[in-house]
Amino acid sequence: MGNGETFRIGVLGSGNGSNLIAIAEAIGRGEVPAEIVLVLSDVKEAEILQHAKRMGLMARHIAPGKYRTKLDEEAEKSYSCALQKADVDLVVLAGFMRVLKGELLKSFHGKVINIHPSLLPSFPGLEAWKQALDYGVKHTGATVHFVDQGIDSGAVIAQEPVPLLDGDTPESLLDRIHQAEHHVYPKAIADIAEGRIISKGRRTFRSPT
Ligand code: GRF
Repeated sequence: MGNGETFRIGVLGSGNGSNLIAIAEAIGRGEVPAEIVLVLSDVKEAEILQHAKRMGLMARHIAPGKYRTKLDEEAEKSYSCALQKADVDLVVLAGFMRVLKGELLKSFHGKVINIHPSLLPSFPGLEAWKQALDYGVKHTGATVHFVDQGIDSGAVIAQEPVPLLDGDTPESLLDRIHQAEHHVYPKAIADIAEGRIISKGRRTFRSPT
């Protein structure tokens, strides 16, 4: 930003909200020059909404519409509208289980990011940590990426590797991936808020100043 105004974040999630908490705590420690101005969820009872309210953040449920895995057209418009009204600079997906296809991606072109629990492009889609374990790779991790119309297919912003250990279960591996996420996501958001991330096609670069 650099003009003294606060960088405004909207967070979308469907589940536990551990990444929301990690981002909010990093902001609280002064590590991310930003403010969470809105939290939205497609799941009425989602813990992410409870956490947001407990932390004093503006939080709302917006119904996803008639599909199971994506927002319908009307719903995506409502999400986009709420985020525009809140004057959001960056849309942060944190466990949001709906694919975006239309209005929101258009209105916030290049300003929607996601965190995925693998080193993309390996293991896109659901239960990426289990996919990694079943495949037998030695390293997986967490990826922060821009969101496009595909599934986990946008340009990579940051990654943090996590080794697979001999005794790993899906649960123990996921636990370590979450720890990596809680570190890499706030850091990437800080870089974006500080204007350090430069995109050239699919490649992104982190400028030192
Ligand atoms: C994370 O593992 C993230 O990678 C995936 O969804 C999960 C969200 O966890 N996209 P939480 O709701 O932030 O705890």
